[in-house]
Amino acid sequence: MVLVKPDRLDGCHIVNFPKVSDYRGNLSFIEESRQIPFAIKRVYYLYDVPSGANRGGHAHKELEQVVIALSGSFDVILDDGERRRTFFLNRPHYGLYIPSGIWRELENFSSNSVALSLVSQAYDELDYLRDYVEFKRWVTNNAGTEQRPRDYR
Ligand code: TYD
Repeated sequence: MVLVKPDRLDGCHIVNFPKVSDYRGNLSFIEESRQIPFAIKRVYYLYDVPSGANRGGHAHKELEQVVIALSGSFDVILDDGERRRTFFLNRPHYGLYIPSGIWRELENFSSNSVALSLVSQAYDELDYLRDYVEFKRWVTNNAGTEQRPRDYR
């Protein structure tokens, strides 16, 4: 029998936000209880990112996050300690859900891009894993204990 380890990256997925379009343009909205599987405690955004600059380069022990390309585009590279997957974000009516315990890097920002993050916790440096080796060790020690996304549809 071949045992296949569960792919923790399966917990990372694109969330579609409603889009209302008419001749005046588009309107999207986000409701915590519908599209976001956690209570939003903080919002932050990256902007004026210089060409070639990378952001992220860390994981969170508990924090959950949805990242949205409000303007422009960028890549989000996710890593569960074993596998990597790249998501290209380029539309403001969808976001990328990242559960806890996933390493993320944001790269290839287009000019004038804005990366909006909705997150489940206030800023707490103690929740960060900023060293990849430390992250791998944390994954080994915490395998299977990370939060599962709640059903929010
Ligand atoms: P950093 O984690 O390096 O940003 P990114 O994830 O985009 O690479 O954060 C840069 C600095 O900003 C760092 O000193 C921590 C600080 N910071 C806050 O004070 N509050 C926040 O909500 C965030 C996200 C960062």
